[in-house]
Amino acid sequence: MEPAPFPQSRPRRLRRTAAIRAAVRETTLVPSQLVAPLFVKEGIDDAQPVASMPGVAQHSIESLRGEVKELRAAGVSSVLLFGVPSRKDDAGSEAWNPDGILQRAVRALREDHGDDLVLMADTCLDEYTVHGHCGPLRADGTVDNDAANDAYARAAVSQAEAGVDVVSPSGMMDGMVRAIRTALDEAGHAERIAIMSYCTKYASAFYGPFRDAAECAPQFGDRSGYQMDPANAEEGVREALADMAEGADVLMVKPAAAYLDVVHRVKQATGMPLAAYHVSGEYAMVHAAAANGWLDLDRAMAETLIGIRRAGADLVITYAAGWMARRLQG
Ligand code: PBG
Repeated sequence: MEPAPFPQSRPRRLRRTAAIRAAVRETTLVPSQLVAPLFVKEGIDDAQPVASMPGVAQHSIESLRGEVKELRAAGVSSVLLFGVPSRKDDAGSEAWNPDGILQRAVRALREDHGDDLVLMADTCLDEYTVHGHCGPLRADGTVDNDAANDAYARAAVSQAEAGVDVVSPSGMMDGMVRAIRTALDEAGHAERIAIMSYCTKYASAFYGPFRDAAECAPQFGDRSGYQMDPANAEEGVREALADMAEGADVLMVKPAAAYLDVVHRVKQATGMPLAAYHVSGEYAMVHAAAANGWLDLDRAMAETLIGIRRAGADLVITYAAGWMARRLQG
């Protein structure tokens, strides 16, 4: 056999031991990069497990406080809160009730953690409307874009006043970031409240389990009149650039695992702090396969989350946040 040309490339030299692999690892995942989505439901006394999302529950304010203490002990310092109100109406008016379930939860968590916790709130109406759409409806059943923006602005100001750090509009209305930024600034929150925009959010089947947890499934139709077509990546970048121009502080791609190319492109195109939302269905399917013995839960979940970071996300929003952080602690 001919001698190998010198120097021969031998990538396996750097894969030989766990210590060497760790030394040359390109991508890191640390607890401060994880965001835990949490559901707080009005009118319950104890946490109620969500069947389709193992390890996830709808919380009472008390059980939420316990959960966040555990997350912080594991090193997770950011949470994204969703309110599940007991009263819904056509307008979704509980979303801006100063004593709404979300606002009360925010005050409780701020009291427990002060500024050591990054408190983010989902700013949308679908959990608050009887019809389950992300804004008020016109007579023909479509969502009224500008009326939705007015409502998001009121909700955002009310979340700001309750004490969040970050409001996070997820309704995919045109101009929603501008509307919210303007309202926050007028209410005196120009310097304190950041906006994390679900700028690039697809009309996805992977939101299925979330709709059980947040009790927000549309009562008719679907969200494809406002959320994006899964086939579109260029448009995803345009949406990100638009929200950046409107004043978003953090951008988001959602879902994450099925849209890693979009995560990468949005990061490249904007250079903005970027979150990617590893959504309910992406979490549930790994659990379901593992429960059948078809996948190794720990390895598959960790691999998914590092992949999202590798694609370019700074923050990973995931129901596995606490579990992952504990695993990282060793
Ligand atoms: C809308 C919202 C949804 C999710 C987050 N915010 C549902 C939807 O758009 O239908 C989904 C999150 C998940 O699936 O984990 N307020």
